[in-house]
Amino acid sequence: MSPDLRTTYLGLQLKSPLVASASPLTGTLDSLKALEEAGAAAVILPSLFEEQIEHEETTVHDMLEQGVHSFGEALTYFPEMDDYNTGPGAYLEHVAAAKEALSIPVIASINGVTPGGWVRYAELLQEAGADAIELNVYAVETDRYASSASVEDRTLRLVSKVRGALDVPLAVKVGPYYTAFANTASRLADAGAAGLVLFNRFLQPDIDLETMTVRPELHLSTNDEMRLPLRWIAILRGRVPVSLAATSGVQTKDDVLKLLLAGADVVMLASALLREGPGLLRELTAGVSEWVEEREYASIEQLKGSMSQETCGDPRAFERAQYVRALVDYQSHARKGN
Ligand SMILES: Cc1cc2nc3c(=O)[nH]c(=O)nc-3n(C[C@H](O)[C@H](O)[C@H](O)COP(=O)(O)O)c2cc1C
Repeated sequence: MSPDLRTTYLGLQLKSPLVASASPLTGTLDSLKALEEAGAAAVILPSLFEEQIEHEETTVHDMLEQGVHSFGEALTYFPEMDDYNTGPGAYLEHVAAAKEALSIPVIASINGVTPGGWVRYAELLQEAGADAIELNVYAVETDRYASSASVEDRTLRLVSKVRGALDVPLAVKVGPYYTAFANTASRLADAGAAGLVLFNRFLQPDIDLETMTVRPELHLSTNDEMRLPLRWIAILRGRVPVSLAATSGVQTKDDVLKLLLAGADVVMLASALLREGPGLLRELTAGVSEWVEEREYASIEQLKGSMSQETCGDPRAFERAQYVRALVDYQSHARKGN
């Protein structure tokens, strides 16, 4: 009998821990269906941005106030994003159409940083049928007068405001650059996050020496990157009362298994699916299932978190001491090599 791959994420029962993360692949119905068919247990739609919602509201307001002439001009303000996620109005239709077409849970995503009026939109996503909302709080804080405490407070206010607008569960997707992340994670849970998505992957700008311009560079991830979420998931598992989703760098069945052992409830993929296509999910599901059976685990639930910091028998493995050990190991290998 094949092992039980079911898992619970944000209170949702999923048939397996493999979830398609927000990316252009979850932006069209055809690719959503292909993802479901290949075994995705849930999908996260591409993010709608706070700026887009605010822009649409301003545009409609301006149109009513000043007449239709101002409309075209206003639309040029945040236009290019509509090629990515269709814009606020059509996004609601995408949520509804995805729900209609799929039988797996559909999670809508909003990217926002300020707790403004746009938050009401989360409720509309829920009404359109989203089974949960993922709030991505991506921001680059450049104001030298804004302290980390004030930025975190703003994020927490945003999370509780969005939480307050919803009945469905809320997951919060964060970046890894917090000074005291265990504390931040705990406060995000207190503010109403039912799940944490670790970690948002920042796209860093680059300078083009030919054209002397600064350009955003989008590189797909490699699996070196999964070790950052692995560490934090292992540390938080069992300590913060939230579901944990791993994102960044997941490419192979071994990556999936390691993150589950560390304590992830689900493992999300974007880059690998963009590279290999949805069919990769079939391969990963079979690979995970085979490994679980070979190791005689009865289920994913039994395996989840069995190598977390709390349970792995060497809590220091996820902490600073490991750094020293890695340096010493490196040195002794280098000596032997000489
Ligand atoms: C082309 C592309 C578009 C993405 N769009 C979004 C998005 O709209 N919202 C979001 O939260 N993350 C977005 N992401 C981030 C992914 O969902 C994922 O968290 C990140 O790429 C790390 O996972 P990976 O290593 O499997 O790619 C995007 C990633 C890629 C590569």
